[in-house]
Amino acid sequence: MKAARAEGGPGPAGSPPWWKSGVVYQVYPRSFQDSNADGVGDLPGIAARLDHLTALGVDALWISPFYPSPMKDFGYDVADYTGVDPIFGTMEDFDRLLAAAHGRGLKVIIDWVPNHTSDQHPWFQASRRSRADPQRDYYLWRDGRPGGGLPNNWLSTFGGPAWTFDPRTGQYYLHSFLPEQPDLNWRNPEVRAAMLETLDFWLRRGVDGFRIDVAHHLMKDPDLRDNPPSTARSEFHKPMGEFDSQVHLYDRNHPDIHRIYREIRLLLDAHGKGQPRVSIGEIHLFDLPELVAFYGADQDEIHLPFNFTLLRTPWAAAAVRRTVDAMEAALPAGAWPNWVLGNHDESRVASRLGAVAARSAMLLLLTLRGTPTLYYGDELGMADVPIPPERARDPWGRRVPGLSLGRDPERTPMHWDGSESAGFTAPGVEPWLPLAADAGRQSVEAQARDPGSMLALTRALLSLRRSRAALHQGSYRPLDGTPGDVFAFLREEGEDRVLVAVSFAAHPVRLSLPERPSGILASTHPHPALEGPHRLSLRPHEGVVIELGQ
Ligand code: GLC
Repeated sequence: MKAARAEGGPGPAGSPPWWKSGVVYQVYPRSFQDSNADGVGDLPGIAARLDHLTALGVDALWISPFYPSPMKDFGYDVADYTGVDPIFGTMEDFDRLLAAAHGRGLKVIIDWVPNHTSDQHPWFQASRRSRADPQRDYYLWRDGRPGGGLPNNWLSTFGGPAWTFDPRTGQYYLHSFLPEQPDLNWRNPEVRAAMLETLDFWLRRGVDGFRIDVAHHLMKDPDLRDNPPSTARSEFHKPMGEFDSQVHLYDRNHPDIHRIYREIRLLLDAHGKGQPRVSIGEIHLFDLPELVAFYGADQDEIHLPFNFTLLRTPWAAAAVRRTVDAMEAALPAGAWPNWVLGNHDESRVASRLGAVAARSAMLLLLTLRGTPTLYYGDELGMADVPIPPERARDPWGRRVPGLSLGRDPERTPMHWDGSESAGFTAPGVEPWLPLAADAGRQSVEAQARDPGSMLALTRALLSLRRSRAALHQGSYRPLDGTPGDVFAFLREEGEDRVLVAVSFAAHPVRLSLPERPSGILASTHPHPALEGPHRLSLRPHEGVVIELGQ
């Protein structure tokens, strides 16, 4: 029973469950494929592009929210947890997509947004109607401080105070994000039961798991104490303006939060017989003990608390190794790591690191120990697209001007082919966000023909990862004594042993190998070559995977 809980259900005999050995691919549904010529991607569009995912070689797709929503935060403001927004299609379209994915052996993970609803959700509509409403306590309502101040000093992630006054009932409600995203009161057992029912709804429909939005936010200090001022900033933190002026001690991650994830885990496990279901938590905590606490004391909470540490690590060998080693050391025994290099909230990896280093970053992502999540378009090396001010859509960017917090550049349409709209939407239709200028040249179609492309590299790495137990389930051991610009590590599973070496230098470097390799399995550069039996020369930003003697 305990073993089954830790694994999230059985995999085929002897093999790890899919969420450990597999690779997750994130689809931002507005931007993947439009099937009805309205300029916005949709569920039938995703279904039509599943061949790309199987040719790529990923195992699961995670679809960002497609629920009915006023789209103030593009679906992260949910008005109905058990429906499909017409802009994305219908419930039948979802069922068809799920069946088509399953038919190809792909798992489907959906986004679940439990911290807040839309202000248009019927619960909030009822809650704001009167102080006596039976659903009043579904949200966090408070009086202002005597003299008319806000209930406390908490700030919204998206700028400004986290409280909005509602004149109808003369109280403030809490919103950790937009005023149109009121926070649910997870201390109310009715809220817990109602939200768990929404999980049950999708589990019964057959989804393979959930990505839990801002999973660390659900439980706040019961006394709603003021946050203390902050003087230091975590090295991993993205600069967020006024929000950084406080230590976020009381507005999230109250220890009670772990009870909720134990309860959710029981639900997933109850549905997991024969079909392991997985939970992935979006947790922006960079104190590693706090983050790994979400695996659960008995690994009975979230299977994969998202590990965002690489996103903010300076791209240098020593720093990256430090990040990887620190996470490996922080993991509770038996907990399975995971790695992320991009998502719909972060500047694209090709823009952060440049096109050449993005290739070795991809090699690293797909060879480190743990489950990788790949953001759509990163397999093409898609870059951030400059958005003219009049086309800006993301509310964060518009509410906190001057800090480039807008997330539109990393959410632009996928590049499929050389046609007018790069195959994303019908000719003559304006996509909801502008396409990259090089969309046609850097499309799936064009890169599939080019053996040197990012797409070809990603496919080769995914195929190698699948075929080598060392890569998809083996141990991790960093190699000491490498030149300062090189991060190298061993992955081993029984007889299967590989060495991964990545250069972070802008010049060639030589690496002495600890033992005689039997061959080079992959490289970010064409024609990698050994320089004698124990020596390898790495070109600028080259990454290689080497097979060691068996
Ligand atoms: C998460 C999502 C982000 C969203 C926010 C509020 O961070 O990834 O896109 O805006 O939560 O729901």
